[in-house]
Amino acid sequence: METPVTKPSSVLYASLAASPPRIESADGNYLFTDDGASIFDASGGAAVACIGHNNSRVKRAVANQLDKISYCFSPWFSTSAYENLAQYLTASTNGEMEKVFVVGSGAEAVEAALKMARQYYLELPEPQPQRCRFIARDRSYHGNTLGSLSLSGHKARRTPFEPLLSQQFSHVSPCYAYRGKKQGEGDDQYTSRLAQELEDEFQRVGPSKVCGFVAETVAGLTLGGVAATPGYLKAMKEVCDRHGALFILDEAGMGRTGTLHAWEQEGVVPHLQTVAKGLGAGYAAIGALMVHKDVVDVFSKGSKAFVHFQTYHGHPLACAAAYEVQQVIKDEDLVSNCHKMGEYLGRLLSKRLGSHHNVGDVRGRGLLWGVELVKDKATKTPFPAQDKIAPAIHAAGLSKFSISLIPGGGVADGTHGDVMVITPAYNINEADAQLIVEKAALAIEHVLGPARPSRL
Ligand SMILES: Cc1ncc(COP(=O)(O)O)c(C=O)c1O
Repeated sequence: METPVTKPSSVLYASLAASPPRIESADGNYLFTDDGASIFDASGGAAVACIGHNNSRVKRAVANQLDKISYCFSPWFSTSAYENLAQYLTASTNGEMEKVFVVGSGAEAVEAALKMARQYYLELPEPQPQRCRFIARDRSYHGNTLGSLSLSGHKARRTPFEPLLSQQFSHVSPCYAYRGKKQGEGDDQYTSRLAQELEDEFQRVGPSKVCGFVAETVAGLTLGGVAATPGYLKAMKEVCDRHGALFILDEAGMGRTGTLHAWEQEGVVPHLQTVAKGLGAGYAAIGALMVHKDVVDVFSKGSKAFVHFQTYHGHPLACAAAYEVQQVIKDEDLVSNCHKMGEYLGRLLSKRLGSHHNVGDVRGRGLLWGVELVKDKATKTPFPAQDKIAPAIHAAGLSKFSISLIPGGGVADGTHGDVMVITPAYNINEADAQLIVEKAALAIEHVLGPARPSRL
């Protein structure tokens, strides 16, 4: 659907060589372009628009907030909007997370988490100023600011900026059973091997120097809907606990995986948690850092002040929008729908696409699904990155089948490996799921050809 640029736009598009479709309006699951096309939004943008577009409750809440207070500086003032959202979020964790710091994006939430982790060690009764390292995972993505990109293991996004990135960050293998598990290896053995790898990394960099280990609870857009093996996150937390380091989870979702917080399914509670995308569902630019009571305790007994602020942190309009989004999710029981419709969507995807000769893996949790595309199913050999398979499917989805899907790259080794990610709104029904699967399959077949018998 991209068209060659004819008259110059002042917008810096993703590509200077083509203009993206222009969206004039949106409603529910549909985006409407200026030339009259309607596109089914099976991606919610970047896994964001989780209650669909044009929600009247959220619009009203934002308008009401505009009538009250649209902006004040959070270090000096609080607002009911900020208080209500923070209260709702902490209560949703049964009080495990005790404080909330609202920012404008996922990357900003991650930046705040990194700084809070570092300051935590300065606030301890016996300060540990030597702690300044973080361990994250290969092929992870935590944002595009320099701190969050330093943390990210996504090679393609890091490479141009590598000289600017901090040397205090290192990476271990992701928990990615499809590619990481050895032949014949059970879940437990795989998990133990990854825990040992993390232990080895602590030892390599010096355990007393590590502030924390950071992971996406479910690897979302980069690996494409990869949930950890059972017990993995618990095992990682044990390694952190052994060395007095913080266990930090970066969760975009807010309900997408079938529980409001993805860690609820993992038997772990993080010291710090970041959330973004599903928090405001696209009605406002918002992310948040949630802080466990144990960390808050240390600050309370220490300087009592987090040395961090932003002009727009705790923005009242963003907080009001996000609060209402969360009430819609609760009132309409959408987290249960994520679980129920997620299982249905996954079954349909596997049935429709599982036997395709180029579909290596169909995996996901809740309404976060990934279809990994491979050149050779038996060997799991990826397509070369220069073939741009996922971007071609994304483009075909938009231009030929009127569906928005998320293309992912580099899943095999950071450079090669394609995945299509499907992250629809939490309120889809069975008919929507059927339509998504059929359109996604048609877009994949348009680029890779119809299914033919594979060697497997
Ligand atoms: C897990 C995770 N963390 C952080 C980010 C960065 O969020 P933002 O683009 O809002 O800065 C993303 C975005 O895709 C993400 O998926």
